Amino acid sequence: MALVYFHQMNSKAQIPPDPDWWRRAVVYHIYPRSFQDSNGDGIGDLLGIRQRLDYLQDLGIDTLWLSPTFSSPQRDFGYDIRDYHTMAPEYGTVEDMDALIEDVHARGMRLVLDLVMNHTSDEHPWFRESAESRTNPRADWYIWADGKDKRNPARCPPNNWKSMVGGRAWHYSPQRQQWYLASFLPFQPDLNYRNPAVHEAMLAVVRYWLDRGADGYRLDIFHVLYKDAALRDNPFSWRLIPTEENPAGLFQEPRYNLNQPETITFARTLRKVVDEFLPTRFLVGEVAGNLDQIRGLCGGDAADGLHLAFLFQTLSTPLRAEPWRELITEAEAKFAHPLLPTWVFSNHDRVRSFTRLGEDTQKAKLLALLQLTLRGVPFIYYGEEIGTAQHDLPLASALDPVAHMYRWVPRFLLPFLKQRFGLSFNRDECRTPMAWTAKSADNYGFTSGANPWLPFALNATHANVETQEADEHSLWHFYRQLLHLRRETPALNSGGFELIDIPASQRKSLLAFRRTHPKGDVSIWLNLASKSLQIPVGDAQILARSALVPFDGTLGSWSGVVVSG
Ligand code: GLC
Repeated sequence: MALVYFHQMNSKAQIPPDPDWWRRAVVYHIYPRSFQDSNGDGIGDLLGIRQRLDYLQDLGIDTLWLSPTFSSPQRDFGYDIRDYHTMAPEYGTVEDMDALIEDVHARGMRLVLDLVMNHTSDEHPWFRESAESRTNPRADWYIWADGKDKRNPARCPPNNWKSMVGGRAWHYSPQRQQWYLASFLPFQPDLNYRNPAVHEAMLAVVRYWLDRGADGYRLDIFHVLYKDAALRDNPFSWRLIPTEENPAGLFQEPRYNLNQPETITFARTLRKVVDEFLPTRFLVGEVAGNLDQIRGLCGGDAADGLHLAFLFQTLSTPLRAEPWRELITEAEAKFAHPLLPTWVFSNHDRVRSFTRLGEDTQKAKLLALLQLTLRGVPFIYYGEEIGTAQHDLPLASALDPVAHMYRWVPRFLLPFLKQRFGLSFNRDECRTPMAWTAKSADNYGFTSGANPWLPFALNATHANVETQEADEHSLWHFYRQLLHLRRETPALNSGGFELIDIPASQRKSLLAFRRTHPKGDVSIWLNLASKSLQIPVGDAQILARSALVPFDGTLGSWSGVVVSG
């Protein structure tokens, strides 16, 4: 039945049963290459994901986001798309994707795809054609420009823009005697959204997968989509390392190549396209900038842009009460209803949260408690629920193309950069295969083949599903408990939010807030310090606690509780 309904697309007469489902969603981010291999080639695939749907459903997940599985030379592991309409053979076929969508829907769950709109692979037929001449029908599908030096076109790029990963963003094509822009890596040329044909072609891709039943998209580096029409030089900046709030870095302020006003207009266009579909779909943007810019991409007061956008400030906010109170206050102010914040702590590009927390399970439970009780949509990265740690792998043998660019960084600096800035130059380290069983000799149940594409996390002997399920006090059990509590408690999944005032003497350690709902309020108290604290919750019912010892009015070090009222 569910299936029949999900394929009745575009019928405006259908009243969606739950237009707000995405507001209550908990999204689980799967890196398909590393989740479950079904055919013994050491690479995860779509059928493997289907085989693990029971696990995800039991855990309490309702929405899956898959990193890209489209046809790709895999030089950036799928973020370099060669064909938006077919699957990379190592992941399966379009029919496998259809079957996955069906299985997901049959469980009342949702599936969100990852759309890379800013660029394609340089092997995409669009780029191949575009690169051939200055006059071919796709000549203006990418951002081409003449070099600054008219006499020697190959000598100077058109302007000073830098790529997001360092180095110049322009690459010379002897064939066209022009430069093309690549905001990320050289083999990922940027599409030209000022060309209406590109605009239309990408909207057709958006519609294509929504028609096939996808429930929405995560939009890759969405804030990069439009560039200054006149390709003006960026101003100098003293900053070396960009932060979440401020993308200026590498001695440049990206004034003309990031967060252009036209991207906001495009966000609204996309929203209209997505709104053509019923049941409701949603868009979440991978963006960077301050919260005002991100709010703009969501449509500001009108809330008619992207449904959601990642607030990566979470990744650099230390686990202490004051900085968290500040971030939550700002996110609540900027993303007040009908907007909604997102809460994300790990992904396939960043140092895993378990490692940032010093591989401390108590702190990981506390962070899960925070993530799953705040107002907003939580994004859980596969393996986060079992405490998978970041690996420590040499840059020299990395598969990640970004790691190759940074092979020169001295090894002794890496732990500092990881700890202080959450910077990992080798993204292989956070993409290790999921460990399902406790048997390392059997590749932890990830693959029946001999060679998983990457090694397992160093803590996989403990951070695997089998071991975690067997221990009732494990991180996994706590996630599961919280996910089910969130789903069953209206205050947690759709309630309002208010901070609880904390006496000055406790403000440095204690963070507390209330989720309000006509069916009953719930309060969350978190001790983000190592000294125990008394908290005034009287005889309220304890709905969840992160500490092993029963709660008696005192919050032990690094622990939290959810209580009624
Ligand atoms: C995003 C993706 C990253 C990818 C890059 C280029 O940041 O998360 O994995 O390499 O965009 O598409």
